[in-house]
Amino acid sequence: MHIIKVCTGGSCRRAFSEETLKKAESTLGISAGENTSDGAFRLEKCGCLSRCEEAPSVFIGKSQSPLDHFLLNGTIATHCTPSKIPDLINSLKKSS
Ligand code: FES
Repeated sequence: MHIIKVCTGGSCRRAFSEETLKKAESTLGISAGENTSDGAFRLEKCGCLSRCEEAPSVFIGKSQSPLDHFLLNGTIATHCTPSKIPDLINSLKKSS
């Protein structure tokens, strides 16, 4: 399962991370705090990822299953504006 965490810390909010979150929600068809019905994605809000100077920031990680949110690995996408979300999610789908 891919875990996507959109930072809603102060710097990211000022860089319109709520719009990034809305785009992720509409692209995946779920709200923050939910999993997709196929168990492929989980979307969450999160606090500061310490990449404020490159806001908005989004953490992308992977867990073993929808029931196990222990992250196996992860990376941070920076300058993650809403227009980048569809390509980001499509690339994750292809990597599954
Ligand atoms: S507030 Fe988002 S990375 Fe710091």
